[in-house]
Amino acid sequence: GSSGRLIIVAYRLPFKLVRENDQVRLFQNSGGLVSAVLSLVKDTRMPKFNTSEKIQWVGFSENTREELEGQSLANEEFQAHPVFIPEEVNENYYEGFCNNLIWPLCHYFPSLARFNDEYFEAYQTANRLFFEKLDEILEPDDTIWVQDYQLMLLPGMIREKYPSNKIGFFFHIPFPSYELFRMLPVRWRKALVDGILGADVVGFHTNDYVEYFLKAARLVSEYGNKLHYINMSNRIVKVDSFPISIDFEKFNAAFDEPEVMQARNDARQSLKEKVIFSVDRLDYSKGIIHRLKGYQRFLERYPEWHEKVSFVMVVVPSRDTIEQYQQMKSDIDQTVGKINADFGNIYWQPIIYQYRSMPYHELVGMYTASDVALITPVRDGMNLVCKEYVASRKDRKGVLILSEMAGAAAELGEAIIINPLDSQDIADAIKQAFEMPVEEQTKRMDAMRERIKDYDVFAWTNDFFTQMTMLEQEHDRLR
Ligand code: UDP
Ligand code: G6P
Repeated sequence: GSSGRLIIVAYRLPFKLVRENDQVRLFQNSGGLVSAVLSLVKDTRMPKFNTSEKIQWVGFSENTREELEGQSLANEEFQAHPVFIPEEVNENYYEGFCNNLIWPLCHYFPSLARFNDEYFEAYQTANRLFFEKLDEILEPDDTIWVQDYQLMLLPGMIREKYPSNKIGFFFHIPFPSYELFRMLPVRWRKALVDGILGADVVGFHTNDYVEYFLKAARLVSEYGNKLHYINMSNRIVKVDSFPISIDFEKFNAAFDEPEVMQARNDARQSLKEKVIFSVDRLDYSKGIIHRLKGYQRFLERYPEWHEKVSFVMVVVPSRDTIEQYQQMKSDIDQTVGKINADFGNIYWQPIIYQYRSMPYHELVGMYTASDVALITPVRDGMNLVCKEYVASRKDRKGVLILSEMAGAAAELGEAIIINPLDSQDIADAIKQAFEMPVEEQTKRMDAMRERIKDYDVFAWTNDFFTQMTMLEQEHDRLR
């Protein structure tokens, strides 16, 4: 294998610097990507990179230049390289192109998509700023792994100046059918596809997303594909599915940690006999309002469960400078308020709603305290929460209710699969879950746990880099 360094490029850095009184410390970003990349550090089966060097990570700096003056942005595993983006650019780039256009389009909300030339200009400028930072540190043997929809132009920029470095690209959200993708102006479509095709290996979570991308590439670029290989003039790009996963053992082992046990006991004691749990970022793609309507229908149709159920719904603040997200916050507040007022009484609050992020132990405490995890996105690239729920259930109990619109549904067929737009479907699924015998819960859990254990996040990263290595040999064979 190669002995160069690994460089991750993602919009978010793995940590930011926070000041508390006179102390400065690094605050770890809790997202799934950080744990995925951390698995590369921990995975001894995969000595592909120069392990005497930290993983280099290029990302947008949430700190200003002044705040970082004289500070080292590194921990044991990562050396961070902050990219500074001027505020006006970041607004049109991050809020604009990324989250007012690409995000809604890829999540099948075309009516929320805003098309604006300034957005695209800022997108180019910002991708260029990431490139310039990378350009400062890149060495000939380095492998670069570019992440997600915020950086689609970057692989192309790198390829132009560095024709022989290995480049991977991973798209973490759904790649939409061509009917949606074609809503983008032709020149933007072409720039995005060509940018992505600067990589050697392009990864998506599911086979559907791979098919949709291949079709877009066929229609937008001049290059033909043979199955999963796109033949560029002087090289080959491999496009494949790699369903991202989680650190199964970490969540499994957490079941017995004292802090988790404490959180679990506290929850069980203060809640009613049946507990439903959900947690997601505040996002219209997560189907939070549909979930509430489904729960409301459950309470209407099955009054025998009144006063016996607590629905703990945690919503993590996200992208709150964007109008759609603010609107959604007030819709949720209203709907929760109405359900609690209509059905609750002084002894019983049907929904316990929290708008905040959750510390890890409390999160796993809730995963393991609940009878049902209710996960109802109307569209989700993968959804890690459902995998974490399953992995946490070392007791092999609990029922997962999962939207067919989550990428994870392709792997978790033993969940109760629902259509999140259908309130009655959600209501019936809750009833079915409450009545499910323990033996059946265990049977379903075992099957799902086995699958996630086999294909954990270590397997995911390993798989991706194995494909990068194999591509060289396949080049020769396919030419
Ligand atoms: N999570 C978090 N903060 C919280 C609660 C959860 O960072 O307060 C984590 C959760 O454990 C999971 C991730 O956020 O790993 C959410 O990933 P998912 O793929 O489900 O959704 P995304 O937010 O990426 O759309
Ligand atoms: C999703 C995206 C990530 C993004 C994360 C949080 O998981 O795939 O790229 O970083 O949401 O969103 P934010 O806008 O806060 O970065």
